[in-house]
Amino acid sequence: MSTLLSAPVAPLLDRLFAHADATEPATTPSVADYWNGLSREERAQLVRSRADYAEFYGRMKDVPLAVSRETGTLLYMLARIGGATSIVEFGTSFGLSTLCLAAALSDNGGGRLITSEFEPSKVARARTHLTEGGLAHLVEFREGDALDTLASDLPEHVDLLLLDGAKALYPDILDLIEPRLRQGAVIVADNADFCPAYLERVRAVGGGYLSVPFGSEVEVSLRLG
Ligand SMILES: C[S@@+](CC[C@H](N)C(=O)[O-])C[C@H]1O[C@@H](n2cnc3c(N)ncnc32)[C@H](O)[C@@H]1O
Repeated sequence: MSTLLSAPVAPLLDRLFAHADATEPATTPSVADYWNGLSREERAQLVRSRADYAEFYGRMKDVPLAVSRETGTLLYMLARIGGATSIVEFGTSFGLSTLCLAAALSDNGGGRLITSEFEPSKVARARTHLTEGGLAHLVEFREGDALDTLASDLPEHVDLLLLDGAKALYPDILDLIEPRLRQGAVIVADNADFCPAYLERVRAVGGGYLSVPFGSEVEVSLRLG
């Protein structure tokens, strides 16, 4: 039986995904006025912004902004297919994707998941959720800006990288992790459409990756060599 599909992880994810689906910026008291005062273009610009990401995500501290349930399942599947034992995640938030990836590590026989988040209250929530799921022993939480926290002390090799933090930083985070990506490693980048430079890089012929959009949410890339 899969850890993803059995207690305590399955009912925990049911609860957390239901909460995430019901918790939009537009209806979350701490951020609703700010969010509802922005035009559609201003919102898109903020999500893309390199200058304002710290302020933007700081305001989103009460909003899970989680991957979809389908992406969570895809993450679990990709980590299982590749037999991943070493995973890096950019953007922990409340830890929903972290739970899916840690469940895969557990079913692969163990390993290490390094996850990065700069909002302290989100790190605390994610830690609670991973403890509730019985998977905290597999996860190393790195609190602070991932540009700093993922710049050193990385594992020898990385089997899977999830990019789900500030979109403008995807190329920078890839720069940090790329030397550790093993041949055959997988990168999943959520909402990568907001970072054209990232897509250009992983889709470039001869650039070292095979890359396709998968569904409407993620770009899935295979490290070739
Ligand atoms: C889309 S959410 C992540 C959702 C999470 N992967 C999940 O599925 O549950 C993005 C998170 O990345 C964090 N973040 C954004 N830029 C960051 C950075 N430079 N360093 C660390 N965390 C960052 C934000 O605070 C936010 O919580």
